[in-house]
Amino acid sequence: LREHEEFTKVKNISTIELGRYEIETWYFSPFPPEYNDSLKLYFCEFCLNFMKRKEQLQRHMRKCDLKHLPGDEIYRSGTLSMFEVDGKKNKVYGQNLCYLAKLFLDHKTLYYDVDLFLFYVLCECDDRGCHMVGYFSKEKHSEESYNLACILTLPPYQRKGYGKFLIAFSYELSKKEGKVGTPEKPLSDLGLLSYRGYWTRVLLDILKKHKGSISIKELSDMTAIKAEDILTTLQSLELIQYRKGQHVICADPKVLDRHLKAAGRGGLEVDVSKLIWTPYK
Ligand code: ACO
Ligand code: ZN
Repeated sequence: LREHEEFTKVKNISTIELGRYEIETWYFSPFPPEYNDSLKLYFCEFCLNFMKRKEQLQRHMRKCDLKHLPGDEIYRSGTLSMFEVDGKKNKVYGQNLCYLAKLFLDHKTLYYDVDLFLFYVLCECDDRGCHMVGYFSKEKHSEESYNLACILTLPPYQRKGYGKFLIAFSYELSKKEGKVGTPEKPLSDLGLLSYRGYWTRVLLDILKKHKGSISIKELSDMTAIKAEDILTTLQSLELIQYRKGQHVICADPKVLDRHLKAAGRGGLEVDVSKLIWTPYK
Protein backbone atom coordinates (compact mmCIF):
# COMPACT_ATOMS: atom_id res chain seq x y z
CA LEU A 1 0.00 0.00 0.00
CA ARG A 2 2.74 2.40 0.86
CA GLU A 3 4.26 1.77 -2.53
CA HIS A 4 0.96 2.51 -4.22
CA GLU A 5 0.60 5.78 -2.34
CA GLU A 6 4.06 6.75 -3.38
CA PHE A 7 3.30 6.19 -7.06
CA THR A 8 0.05 8.10 -7.06
CA LYS A 9 1.44 11.14 -5.31
CA VAL A 10 1.57 14.22 -7.44
CA LYS A 11 4.84 15.48 -8.72
CA ASN A 12 6.47 17.84 -6.23
CA ILE A 13 9.76 19.08 -7.61
CA SER A 14 9.16 20.41 -11.11
CA THR A 15 12.67 21.53 -12.10
CA ILE A 16 16.20 20.79 -11.06
CA GLU A 17 19.43 22.55 -11.74
CA LEU A 18 22.35 20.24 -12.45
CA GLY A 19 25.66 21.54 -13.77
CA ARG A 20 24.90 23.88 -16.65
CA TYR A 21 21.43 22.45 -17.20
CA GLU A 22 18.02 23.28 -15.92
CA ILE A 23 15.90 20.17 -16.34
CA GLU A 24 12.12 19.69 -16.16
CA THR A 25 11.28 16.61 -14.12
CA TRP A 26 8.91 13.84 -15.25
CA TYR A 27 7.68 12.05 -12.12
CA PHE A 28 7.32 12.14 -8.38
CA SER A 29 10.36 11.35 -6.28
CA PRO A 30 10.14 10.87 -2.50
CA PHE A 31 12.63 13.49 -1.33
CA PRO A 32 12.85 13.96 2.44
CA PRO A 33 9.83 15.98 3.71
CA GLU A 34 11.74 19.22 4.24
CA TYR A 35 12.27 19.46 0.44
CA ASN A 36 8.68 18.86 -0.49
CA ASP A 37 7.63 22.49 -0.46
CA SER A 38 10.20 23.39 -3.13
CA LEU A 39 9.40 23.56 -6.80
CA LYS A 40 13.04 23.60 -7.74
CA LEU A 41 16.09 21.85 -6.33
CA TYR A 42 19.75 22.65 -6.94
CA PHE A 43 22.09 19.68 -7.32
CA CYS A 44 25.85 19.66 -7.03
CA GLU A 45 26.72 17.87 -10.25
CA PHE A 46 29.66 16.05 -8.64
CA CYS A 47 28.50 14.74 -5.24
CA LEU A 48 24.77 15.05 -6.12
CA ASN A 49 23.91 16.74 -2.83
CA PHE A 50 20.78 18.79 -3.36
CA MET A 51 19.71 22.13 -1.92
CA LYS A 52 16.67 24.36 -1.88
CA ARG A 53 18.38 27.62 -2.71
CA LYS A 54 20.80 28.75 -5.37
CA GLU A 55 22.98 30.57 -2.80
CA GLN A 56 23.37 27.32 -0.87
CA LEU A 57 24.57 25.59 -4.02
CA GLN A 58 27.01 28.41 -4.79
CA ARG A 59 28.42 28.19 -1.29
CA HIS A 60 28.61 24.41 -1.61
CA MET A 61 30.41 24.60 -4.96
CA ARG A 62 33.17 26.68 -3.41
CA LYS A 63 33.77 23.92 -0.87
CA CYS A 64 32.96 20.77 -2.82
CA ASP A 65 36.33 19.57 -4.02
CA LEU A 66 35.05 16.61 -5.96
CA LYS A 67 35.84 17.24 -9.61
CA HIS A 68 34.22 13.92 -10.32
CA LEU A 69 32.05 11.57 -8.37
CA PRO A 70 33.34 9.12 -5.78
CA GLY A 71 34.22 5.64 -7.00
CA ASP A 72 36.62 4.01 -9.43
CA GLU A 73 37.11 4.96 -13.02
CA ILE A 74 36.80 1.65 -14.88
CA TYR A 75 36.59 2.92 -18.47
CA ARG A 76 37.98 5.87 -20.37
CA SER A 77 37.80 6.49 -24.09
CA GLY A 78 38.32 10.02 -25.36
CA THR A 79 36.24 12.33 -23.17
CA LEU A 80 33.95 9.54 -22.02
CA SER A 81 34.53 7.91 -18.63
CA MET A 82 32.63 5.34 -16.63
CA PHE A 83 32.83 5.23 -12.83
CA GLU A 84 31.81 2.35 -10.61
CA VAL A 85 30.37 3.40 -7.27
CA ASP A 86 29.71 0.88 -4.51
CA GLY A 87 26.49 1.82 -2.73
CA LYS A 88 27.81 0.45 0.52
CA LYS A 89 30.96 2.55 0.49
CA ASN A 90 29.21 5.67 -0.83
CA LYS A 91 25.77 5.53 0.73
CA VAL A 92 24.91 9.21 0.49
CA TYR A 93 25.98 9.44 -3.13
CA GLY A 94 23.95 6.32 -3.95
CA GLN A 95 20.87 7.72 -2.23
CA ASN A 96 21.23 11.09 -3.93
CA LEU A 97 21.51 9.39 -7.29
CA CYS A 98 18.34 7.40 -6.60
CA TYR A 99 16.38 10.53 -5.62
CA LEU A 100 17.54 12.19 -8.81
CA ALA A 101 16.83 9.18 -11.03
CA LYS A 102 13.33 8.64 -9.65
CA LEU A 103 12.37 12.04 -11.10
CA PHE A 104 12.60 10.38 -14.54
CA LEU A 105 11.60 6.80 -13.73
CA ASP A 106 7.95 5.99 -13.31
CA HIS A 107 7.24 2.46 -12.15
CA LYS A 108 10.43 1.85 -10.22
CA THR A 109 10.59 1.68 -6.46
CA LEU A 110 13.20 3.83 -4.89
CA TYR A 111 15.89 1.73 -3.32
CA TYR A 112 16.60 2.81 0.19
CA ASP A 113 18.96 -0.09 0.47
CA VAL A 114 21.70 1.17 -1.79
CA ASP A 115 24.20 -1.16 -0.08
CA LEU A 116 23.15 -3.98 -2.36
CA PHE A 117 23.87 -2.10 -5.57
CA LEU A 118 26.71 -0.94 -7.75
CA PHE A 119 26.19 2.22 -9.76
CA TYR A 120 27.80 2.73 -13.16
CA VAL A 121 27.90 6.43 -13.88
CA LEU A 122 28.78 7.68 -17.35
CA CYS A 123 30.47 11.08 -17.61
CA GLU A 124 31.66 13.48 -20.26
CA CYS A 125 34.88 15.01 -18.94
CA ASP A 126 36.43 18.40 -19.72
CA ASP A 127 38.70 20.84 -17.89
CA ARG A 128 35.86 21.79 -15.51
CA GLY A 129 35.39 18.22 -14.37
CA CYS A 130 33.41 15.10 -15.16
CA HIS A 131 29.76 15.74 -15.97
CA MET A 132 27.23 13.00 -15.46
CA VAL A 133 25.38 11.98 -18.60
CA GLY A 134 23.52 8.93 -17.30
CA TYR A 135 23.91 5.79 -15.27
CA PHE A 136 22.69 2.30 -14.60
CA SER A 137 22.48 0.38 -11.35
CA LYS A 138 23.20 -3.30 -10.87
CA GLU A 139 22.54 -5.63 -7.98
CA LYS A 140 25.70 -7.09 -6.53
CA HIS A 141 24.03 -10.50 -6.50
CA SER A 142 20.95 -11.18 -8.56
CA GLU A 143 18.96 -14.40 -8.28
CA GLU A 144 17.05 -13.59 -11.45
CA SER A 145 20.19 -12.96 -13.54
CA TYR A 146 19.43 -9.25 -13.77
CA ASN A 147 22.46 -7.40 -15.07
CA LEU A 148 20.81 -3.97 -14.84
CA ALA A 149 18.24 -2.63 -12.37
CA CYS A 150 17.60 0.96 -13.49
CA ILE A 151 18.91 2.91 -16.45
CA LEU A 152 18.71 6.63 -17.09
CA THR A 153 20.10 9.10 -19.58
CA LEU A 154 19.57 12.62 -18.25
CA PRO A 155 17.09 14.43 -20.55
CA PRO A 156 19.57 16.95 -22.06
CA TYR A 157 21.68 14.00 -23.23
CA GLN A 158 18.91 11.71 -24.53
CA ARG A 159 18.66 10.46 -28.13
CA LYS A 160 22.40 10.75 -28.69
CA GLY A 161 23.28 7.07 -28.29
CA TYR A 162 24.26 7.11 -24.60
CA GLY A 163 21.41 4.75 -23.67
CA LYS A 164 22.63 2.14 -26.10
CA PHE A 165 26.15 2.66 -24.79
CA LEU A 166 24.96 2.00 -21.21
CA ILE A 167 23.07 -1.12 -22.31
CA ALA A 168 26.07 -2.41 -24.27
CA PHE A 169 28.26 -1.73 -21.24
CA SER A 170 25.99 -3.79 -18.98
CA TYR A 171 26.39 -6.75 -21.33
CA GLU A 172 30.17 -6.31 -21.48
CA LEU A 173 30.23 -6.63 -17.69
CA SER A 174 28.13 -9.81 -17.94
CA LYS A 175 30.55 -11.24 -20.51
CA LYS A 176 33.44 -10.60 -18.11
CA GLU A 177 31.46 -12.40 -15.40
CA GLY A 178 30.80 -15.29 -17.77
CA LYS A 179 27.05 -14.94 -17.19
CA VAL A 180 24.00 -14.09 -19.23
CA GLY A 181 21.98 -11.08 -18.12
CA THR A 182 18.65 -9.35 -18.57
CA PRO A 183 17.26 -6.00 -17.44
CA GLU A 184 14.97 -5.91 -14.42
CA LYS A 185 11.27 -5.85 -15.33
CA PRO A 186 9.07 -3.97 -15.95
CA LEU A 187 10.76 -1.89 -18.62
CA SER A 188 9.43 1.56 -19.43
CA ASP A 189 8.34 2.31 -23.00
CA LEU A 190 11.59 4.13 -23.67
CA GLY A 191 13.52 1.35 -21.96
CA LEU A 192 11.89 -1.31 -24.13
CA LEU A 193 12.51 0.70 -27.31
CA SER A 194 16.17 1.09 -26.44
CA TYR A 195 16.62 -2.58 -25.51
CA ARG A 196 14.75 -3.78 -28.61
CA GLY A 197 17.02 -1.60 -30.74
CA TYR A 198 20.14 -2.90 -29.03
CA TRP A 199 19.13 -6.57 -29.17
CA THR A 200 18.08 -6.30 -32.82
CA ARG A 201 21.33 -4.72 -33.90
CA VAL A 202 23.61 -7.09 -31.98
CA LEU A 203 21.77 -10.28 -33.00
CA LEU A 204 21.29 -9.33 -36.64
CA ASP A 205 24.92 -8.31 -37.03
CA ILE A 206 25.89 -11.81 -35.94
CA LEU A 207 23.29 -13.52 -38.11
CA LYS A 208 24.49 -11.54 -41.11
CA LYS A 209 28.10 -12.59 -40.69
CA HIS A 210 27.45 -16.16 -39.62
CA LYS A 211 27.50 -18.90 -42.23
CA GLY A 212 25.21 -21.85 -41.66
CA SER A 213 22.67 -22.33 -38.90
CA ILE A 214 23.06 -21.01 -35.37
CA SER A 215 21.06 -21.75 -32.24
CA ILE A 216 19.62 -19.40 -29.66
CA LYS A 217 21.95 -20.92 -27.09
CA GLU A 218 24.96 -20.10 -29.26
CA LEU A 219 23.74 -16.53 -29.76
CA SER A 220 23.28 -16.22 -26.01
CA ASP A 221 26.80 -17.48 -25.29
CA MET A 222 28.26 -14.96 -27.74
CA THR A 223 26.31 -11.92 -26.55
CA ALA A 224 25.44 -12.57 -22.86
CA ILE A 225 21.83 -11.77 -23.83
CA LYS A 226 19.40 -14.08 -22.06
CA ALA A 227 17.78 -16.71 -24.32
CA GLU A 228 14.23 -15.42 -23.66
CA ASP A 229 15.19 -11.93 -24.82
CA ILE A 230 16.74 -13.37 -27.97
CA LEU A 231 13.64 -15.39 -28.67
CA THR A 232 11.19 -12.50 -28.19
CA THR A 233 13.37 -10.17 -30.28
CA LEU A 234 13.65 -12.60 -33.18
CA GLN A 235 9.97 -13.50 -32.87
CA SER A 236 8.92 -9.86 -33.06
CA LEU A 237 10.99 -9.60 -36.25
CA GLU A 238 9.31 -12.78 -37.54
CA LEU A 239 12.64 -14.52 -37.91
CA ILE A 240 11.63 -17.60 -35.93
CA GLN A 241 9.88 -20.66 -37.26
CA TYR A 242 8.74 -23.57 -35.19
CA ARG A 243 9.61 -26.89 -36.86
CA LYS A 244 9.28 -30.32 -35.27
CA GLY A 245 9.18 -28.89 -31.78
CA GLN A 246 12.25 -26.74 -32.37
CA HIS A 247 12.78 -23.01 -32.84
CA VAL A 248 14.61 -22.39 -36.08
CA ILE A 249 16.10 -19.04 -37.01
CA CYS A 250 15.47 -18.01 -40.60
CA ALA A 251 18.04 -15.49 -41.71
CA ASP A 252 17.40 -14.32 -45.24
CA PRO A 253 20.08 -11.64 -45.84
CA LYS A 254 17.61 -9.27 -47.52
CA VAL A 255 15.21 -9.50 -44.57
CA LEU A 256 18.07 -8.94 -42.12
CA ASP A 257 19.20 -5.81 -43.95
CA ARG A 258 15.70 -4.41 -43.93
CA HIS A 259 15.39 -4.95 -40.16
CA LEU A 260 18.85 -3.55 -39.49
CA LYS A 261 17.99 -0.35 -41.33
CA ALA A 262 14.80 -0.01 -39.30
CA ALA A 263 16.72 -0.58 -36.04
CA GLY A 264 18.26 2.89 -36.30
CA ARG A 265 21.74 4.05 -35.49
CA GLY A 266 24.21 1.86 -33.67
CA GLY A 267 24.94 4.31 -30.87
CA LEU A 268 28.30 4.93 -29.25
CA GLU A 269 30.55 1.89 -29.26
CA VAL A 270 31.98 0.40 -26.09
CA ASP A 271 35.70 -0.16 -26.70
CA VAL A 272 36.24 -3.28 -24.60
CA SER A 273 40.01 -2.85 -24.64
CA LYS A 274 39.47 0.25 -22.46
CA LEU A 275 37.41 -1.49 -19.80
CA ILE A 276 39.49 -2.32 -16.74
CA TRP A 277 37.26 -4.24 -14.40
CA THR A 278 36.98 -7.39 -12.35
CA PRO A 279 33.61 -8.75 -11.21
CA TYR A 280 32.34 -7.93 -7.73
CA LYS A 281 33.03 -10.66 -5.20
N1 ACO B 1 11.10 8.51 -28.92
C1 ACO B 1 11.22 7.45 -29.74
N2 ACO B 1 12.23 6.54 -29.66
C2 ACO B 1 13.13 6.72 -28.69
C3 ACO B 1 13.07 7.82 -27.79
C4 ACO B 1 12.01 8.75 -27.95
N3 ACO B 1 11.88 9.82 -27.16
N4 ACO B 1 14.11 7.74 -26.96
C5 ACO B 1 14.80 6.63 -27.30
N5 ACO B 1 14.20 6.00 -28.34
C6 ACO B 1 14.60 4.74 -28.97
C7 ACO B 1 15.19 4.94 -30.33
O1 ACO B 1 14.98 3.76 -31.06
C8 ACO B 1 16.64 5.14 -30.02
O2 ACO B 1 17.48 4.81 -31.05
P1 ACO B 1 17.73 5.86 -32.29
O3 ACO B 1 18.01 7.20 -31.68
O4 ACO B 1 18.91 5.27 -33.00
O5 ACO B 1 16.48 5.83 -33.10
C9 ACO B 1 16.85 4.15 -28.89
O6 ACO B 1 15.62 4.15 -28.18
C10 ACO B 1 17.96 4.45 -27.91
O7 ACO B 1 18.43 5.74 -28.05
P2 ACO B 1 19.68 6.25 -27.19
O8 ACO B 1 20.00 7.64 -27.66
O9 ACO B 1 20.76 5.25 -27.22
O10 ACO B 1 19.04 6.24 -25.73
P3 ACO B 1 18.93 7.42 -24.66
O11 ACO B 1 20.29 7.93 -24.31
O12 ACO B 1 17.93 8.41 -25.08
O13 ACO B 1 18.43 6.59 -23.40
C11 ACO B 1 16.73 5.70 -22.00
C12 ACO B 1 17.35 5.70 -23.41
C13 ACO B 1 17.81 5.38 -20.98
C14 ACO B 1 15.65 4.64 -21.92
C15 ACO B 1 16.15 7.14 -21.77
O14 ACO B 1 15.05 7.32 -22.62
C16 ACO B 1 15.72 7.39 -20.33
O15 ACO B 1 16.53 7.67 -19.46
N6 ACO B 1 14.39 7.36 -20.08
C17 ACO B 1 13.83 7.64 -18.76
C18 ACO B 1 14.13 6.54 -17.76
C19 ACO B 1 13.67 5.18 -18.28
O16 ACO B 1 12.56 5.01 -18.79
N7 ACO B 1 14.54 4.17 -18.13
C20 ACO B 1 14.26 2.79 -18.47
C21 ACO B 1 13.41 2.15 -17.40
S1 ACO B 1 13.43 0.41 -17.47
C22 ACO B 1 14.78 -0.04 -16.50
O17 ACO B 1 15.35 0.77 -15.85
C23 ACO B 1 15.22 -1.48 -16.47
ZN1 ZN C 1 29.30 18.62 -4.18
